[in-house]
Amino acid sequence: MNAFQHHIRLVRHDEGELVLAIINEAAERYHGVIPADCWHDPYFSADYLASETAAGVRFFGHDAGEGLLGVMGVQDVDDVTLIRHAYVLPCAQRGGIGSGLLLSLLATIDKPVLIGTWADAVWAVAFYEKHGFACVSVDEKTRLLRRYWDIPERQVETSVVLARSY
Ligand SMILES: CC(C)(COP(=O)(O)OP(=O)(O)OC[C@H]1O[C@@H](n2cnc3c(N)ncnc32)[C@H](O)[C@@H]1OP(=O)(O)O)[C@@H](O)C(=O)NCCC(=O)NCCS
Repeated sequence: MNAFQHHIRLVRHDEGELVLAIINEAAERYHGVIPADCWHDPYFSADYLASETAAGVRFFGHDAGEGLLGVMGVQDVDDVTLIRHAYVLPCAQRGGIGSGLLLSLLATIDKPVLIGTWADAVWAVAFYEKHGFACVSVDEKTRLLRRYWDIPERQVETSVVLARSY
């Protein structure tokens, strides 16, 4: 049990602005790293957040009493559960908050878990590998991204999918 798991709660409907601020500040990490044609500013718009929520993404956040410092989404799609949109404020990264969020969500999931991220986001891949996930083959990630995600084909090409390696 990660000490931060005690601070995980469902994000409230009135916290959309805060969620966007966290995501867009943390997503700056992608700038100049992921393919230029995949980067946009802001990275996450209010409309996109609303559409993701409408598509069933439930956001959880880390809040130790002083407001949200990180968020992570979970989405059930058919026979699997996707971990979506994991972001921790840069000033709070590498302190265990992301792990607390991930472990809390995993503890509630009883279906196979899949995670997608940019192939170039090597730090994110390392984060999930640390928690027992491994990248699937290129053919498999292409099949999985087309089957379970609703993302542009360009993002399919430039992403990886991680599944539990145990
Ligand atoms: C990925 C992210 C959510 C992890 O949250 P976190 O609170 O920083 O993660 P934790 O402190 O629990 O775990 C840290 C581990 O994650 C990985 N990691 C996180 N940030 C890293 C960085 N900048 N460089 C290298 N590894 C990093 C490492 O494996 C690290 O372990 P270590 O410190 O022992 O080397 C967070 O760093 C983030 O928001 N990054 C920018 C946005 C992003 O890439 N999101 C992923 C979308 S799928």
